[in-house]
Amino acid sequence: MADQHKKLHIAVFPWLAFALQHYEKKTLSEDHDEENESGVSDVFRVQQVLGGVDGVTVRACMEIEAESIKFLQNQCSKPVIPVGLIPPSLQLFGSEDNTHDEDWNTILKWLDEQENRSVIYVAFGSEVTLSDDEFTEIAMGLELSGFPFFWVLKKQNTSSDISGSIELKRGVLWSNWVPQLKILAHKSVGGFLSHSGWSSVIESLQFGCPLIMLPFHNEQGLVARLMEEKMVGVKVSRNEDDGKFSRDSLAKALRSVMLEDEGKPYRNHAVEMSKIVGDKELHQKYINEFVEYMEIHRSA
Ligand SMILES: *[C@@H]1O[C@H](CO)[C@@H](O)[C@H](O)[C@H]1NC(C)=O
Ligand SMILES: *[C@@H]1O[C@H](CO)[C@@H](O)[C@H](O)[C@H]1NC(C)=O
Ligand SMILES: *[C@@H]1O[C@H](CO)[C@@H](O)[C@H](O)[C@H]1NC(C)=O
Repeated sequence: MADQHKKLHIAVFPWLAFALQHYEKKTLSEDHDEENESGVSDVFRVQQVLGGVDGVTVRACMEIEAESIKFLQNQCSKPVIPVGLIPPSLQLFGSEDNTHDEDWNTILKWLDEQENRSVIYVAFGSEVTLSDDEFTEIAMGLELSGFPFFWVLKKQNTSSDISGSIELKRGVLWSNWVPQLKILAHKSVGGFLSHSGWSSVIESLQFGCPLIMLPFHNEQGLVARLMEEKMVGVKVSRNEDDGKFSRDSLAKALRSVMLEDEGKPYRNHAVEMSKIVGDKELHQKYINEFVEYMEIHRSA
């Protein structure tokens, strides 16, 4: 199965064969190659769609990904239209929805008590399920780093009460909903330990918050590599073969971004990039151009 799903993905995106590291190829979700009740797999669906469409849109902008956009254009032999990064607005989480006010007040109180840029915010998105081992290494790595942390963990593959069996002295483990954007914008947050899903990366960088990246599936490893090249964060190193990471490799990555001196280049580059990622006008312009393109090219 493992080999077959590798082949299928690579048949759709041949460049993946050399873009991904050995262990990353194993992390391409197998689900996507399996037929479900609709009778076809996701990979087949993507293949058919790419073959049939007149163009492709991507949530990207030339200011950050000009090369990748051109590359994709060559690969598909179709127009590729970037629609900008669509950075979300803090205002969207407005006062009309106050069902979570109490949660936010508790979080805000804790954040306010921490020193500026000292907190590591931790969240791996809704699709990553941590194994017991991964949970343990992350928890111990966070403790080892010496920084306070706020860890949002909604889904976990814990057979038992492992989260209760590790004493977290320096941080908070939070299992409810959180206003991620408000947390990232808070002055006490100094880094985001993330699976480097594209939305999370955009949310973090729009506030100039540097990244510590622990990619798990699919495109996350590619996003992490790009962000590392841009110097807005570091990747947690994993074994070349089995992809395992240790508490020490995690703590090392966390410290290199969070420490005052060592982390300076990442903070500076993240702040620089926030001027692009958080530029609402720039991204609105992409949307407007996309709409124009659609109007010009709509079939009669
Ligand atoms: C099958 O997969 C497609 C695409 O991922 C999804 O939209 C659909 O809901 C799935 N069907 C079932 C029955 O799981
Ligand atoms: C913390 O950051 C806030 C807002 O950026 C600033 O006003 C304040 O002076 C800072 N506090 C310290 C101790 O640096
Ligand atoms: C979750 O736990 C079960 C039982 O311990 C195990 O079979 C499964 O492989 C685990 N899944 C992950 C993603 O670790």
